[in-house]
Amino acid sequence: MRQQLPIPLFSTDQTLLSDALQWAHEGIKYAGSKQKLLAPIFEAVKDIPCDSVLDLFSGTTRVSRLFAGIGSSVASNDLAEWSECFATAYLLNDREASAYQPLIDHLNSLTPIDGWFTQNYGGIDYEGSAVQQNGKKALWQRHNTMKLDAVREEIDRLSLTPLERSIALTSLIYALDRVENTIGHYVSYLKRWSPRSYNQMTLQVPNLRISNRENFVFREDAETLLDHFRASGKHFDLAYLDPPYGSNNEKMPPSRVRYASYYHIWKTVILNDRPEIFGAAHRREDSRDKISASPFEEYRRDEEGSSLALKALHRVVKKTPAEHLLLSYSNGGRATYAELVDVLADSGELITAIQMNYKKNVMANMTWTNQWIPPEDIPNVEYLFLIRK
Ligand SMILES: C[S@@+](CC[C@H](N)C(=O)[O-])C[C@H]1O[C@@H](n2cnc3c(N)ncnc32)[C@H](O)[C@@H]1O
Repeated sequence: MRQQLPIPLFSTDQTLLSDALQWAHEGIKYAGSKQKLLAPIFEAVKDIPCDSVLDLFSGTTRVSRLFAGIGSSVASNDLAEWSECFATAYLLNDREASAYQPLIDHLNSLTPIDGWFTQNYGGIDYEGSAVQQNGKKALWQRHNTMKLDAVREEIDRLSLTPLERSIALTSLIYALDRVENTIGHYVSYLKRWSPRSYNQMTLQVPNLRISNRENFVFREDAETLLDHFRASGKHFDLAYLDPPYGSNNEKMPPSRVRYASYYHIWKTVILNDRPEIFGAAHRREDSRDKISASPFEEYRRDEEGSSLALKALHRVVKKTPAEHLLLSYSNGGRATYAELVDVLADSGELITAIQMNYKKNVMANMTWTNQWIPPEDIPNVEYLFLIRK
């Protein structure tokens, strides 16, 4: 029988935690973001040392901020350029947020221009429909892409430090995310304009704090970074692993989340490199699956029938130089519960496994166990496994 453990009560860390949760809240809409799981993540690790924490697939950096907010020294890593940008803004900041207000005010005051972004992503309102000049569906309204064109050019023109540049770009991406015309990712756009797309895009200073610990920001393939850590003897108290889950839908491999294609536009905003684009959504050429494939998004199996994504996860779990490892996964993902258990049991001892019904109130729907027992077959379950290595 599955063992039901009581959900531990928050200790004296309650104030610190709510403060960190508040800091970690803001960010883009992102498939797999752990915005709703921050409190359970904290619950899972609150009784173990967390002085140094590695967030190996940091995405929106919400989990990195949770740990930095409770006082950990954090190393944040992701393959995406914009994740590196957010992590730099939040984790390496050394000034009060108000110090950046003049820069943000200046960017908001620019005269809009008709540039590359407007030509490729700006649309007009044709009886409520979102159309570009070429008749394709549009990502933003023209008045907002014209602001984007002006702001993005100005960020390159100004002599900004890497930190200021990251803060300006984070602010720009958040402002664009508030007025987009999508269902949350960027491989197709809505036929009729979303109500938010009519709003004027306005940049705001992100919710920044001065870092009082030494934090680190990386943009590396996870396995490559772990190889560097091992070679240099770097070790962490805790590593949080939240890899792409892939999909267990064998018949529809393209149904899985592919991060480089889903969020191609943020890479283009960061690089401002006017890339070759293709398809109805005007994706970057280098966001094609064959070019930007991540081993964790791989749906194929090897000659022996083993899942390539699971093998990549196995290697990463083994290589992670940390006393404790917390793994996030979903029961809609490529690996089954039994396969995850095999991978984790090969590297450590299970301390806690938590299952949460993601679509409902997660705190009210958590099941805790300290045994490797498969869950009942219910949809939309998120797992958190804590192991001691
Ligand atoms: C499930 S998301 C992480 C979400 C994140 N925890 C959050 O709360 O926003 C998985 C992340 O893995 C990143 N990723 C994919 N392949 C990677 C690789 N080989 N190395 C490092 N990061 C990778 C993606 O860019 C994506 O941001």
